[in-house]
Amino acid sequence: MKIAVAGTGYVGLVTGVVFADLGNEVICVDIDPSKVDAINKGQSPIYEPGLDELLQRNLEEGRLSATTDLAQATREAEVVFICVGTPPTETGEPSLAQVDAAAAAIGQALNGYKIVVNKSTVPVGTGDRVRRIIEQNRTAPYDFDVVSNPEFLREGSAVHDTLNPDRIVIGADNPRAAMKIVELYAPLERPMLITNLATAEIIKYASNTFLALKISFINAVADLCERTGADIVQVAKAMGYDPRIGSAFLQAGLGFGGSCFPKDVQAFAHTVQRYELDPTLFHQILAINDARPVQFVSRIRERLGGLSGRTIGLLGLAFKPNTDDIREARSLEVIRLLLHEGATVKAYDPVAMPRVQAIYPDLIYCRNAYEVAENADALALITEWNEFRQLNFERIRNAMRQPNLFDGRNLYDPQRMRKLGFYYYGVGRTAENGEFKTVL
Ligand code: UGA
Repeated sequence: MKIAVAGTGYVGLVTGVVFADLGNEVICVDIDPSKVDAINKGQSPIYEPGLDELLQRNLEEGRLSATTDLAQATREAEVVFICVGTPPTETGEPSLAQVDAAAAAIGQALNGYKIVVNKSTVPVGTGDRVRRIIEQNRTAPYDFDVVSNPEFLREGSAVHDTLNPDRIVIGADNPRAAMKIVELYAPLERPMLITNLATAEIIKYASNTFLALKISFINAVADLCERTGADIVQVAKAMGYDPRIGSAFLQAGLGFGGSCFPKDVQAFAHTVQRYELDPTLFHQILAINDARPVQFVSRIRERLGGLSGRTIGLLGLAFKPNTDDIREARSLEVIRLLLHEGATVKAYDPVAMPRVQAIYPDLIYCRNAYEVAENADALALITEWNEFRQLNFERIRNAMRQPNLFDGRNLYDPQRMRKLGFYYYGVGRTAENGEFKTVL
């Protein structure tokens, strides 16, 4: 099939490359010429495991190309995917400006029947909006259909997730269009659900909001664990054995960041409100999440008797492991709070340092975890990269001014760390001396 993909962010580029790998002819489109150049040279503009190899192979085999010309790509394609950004506006509602612009360009370029598939995360009703914009812009009454095909890939495992999706949701009001998209995904042999447009659009937000809810739920319980001498890791483990609950997304810690959960929960709350329903539940997910870095930094402050003049080392900056993405990363909020109180901040992340450096040029950026530990009053694990799992903790302890370890992702075994001579704090875990426990 001939496919055009508008937008070469995480979703667009990975989708385009994977469709090419399945034997389709794919044209990736982006308004940014530097991204287009990089893709045509076989260099992925984003860091994503496995993507470069797949990109190069499909370029070499002639199934993939990139351009800035959406009109031309549309004219050549049977199916046009919209995978552009929907960044939050000041009100928290997603901006549909890029979706609208893509729809208008596709409308103007229509030269025969096309299926326009929206993959950008958009509020319910956007499919109808895209249809209207295309109708208003087409130069002749060419036929087309709009399909909603939400994306569930995770950054850091985007290629794997796209090749092995848990489910493929195809929302279309015309079965003929739905079947064409079914055909496109058939080689993946994964469960497919065909729904109407609105249902598909809500599935995306409901899924992300529910995952965010699980995280905020477990973090709220973690606070209770700290005050009662319970251990959130064991609570979550036992809860997770119940298949109705499931063990995924019950890791307490600094909470969720990234370009999706914070923005999607907020957008969903707005949608609910627009339809005059009560958004309290969704607002609470965000409120709990916003409080995580504040509480974490308080724990460090309490231990050190103030932060002014102290040196705090951060392990990990990306919003989660295996990505260089720092959008809404918890690290940024932790850094802001630490600097605000006069601390010196040292940091190391395997790939995300340049991005943080652009925001905070004055931190002390280090080459590895050991350098971060040198003369630090506290070490804080922010992102659970694999390379932080098996550090030489004796070396770390000896390098530090004071051996204080704050584990923002509950990566380490508290007993082991205490045996090694650290003061250890894990979120929602029993403190060594019951210091956070309140006896009523
Ligand atoms: C999320 C969803 O998981 C994807 O299914 C979805 O397609 C994507 O958003 C999107 O809408 O595009 P992503 O933002 O890449 O994917 O990252 P996640 O792996 O879901 O992690 C999000 C955040 O939650 C991270 O900051 C992570 O550290 C945090 N998290 C995750 C926790 O704090 N606890 C957990 O138990 C799990």
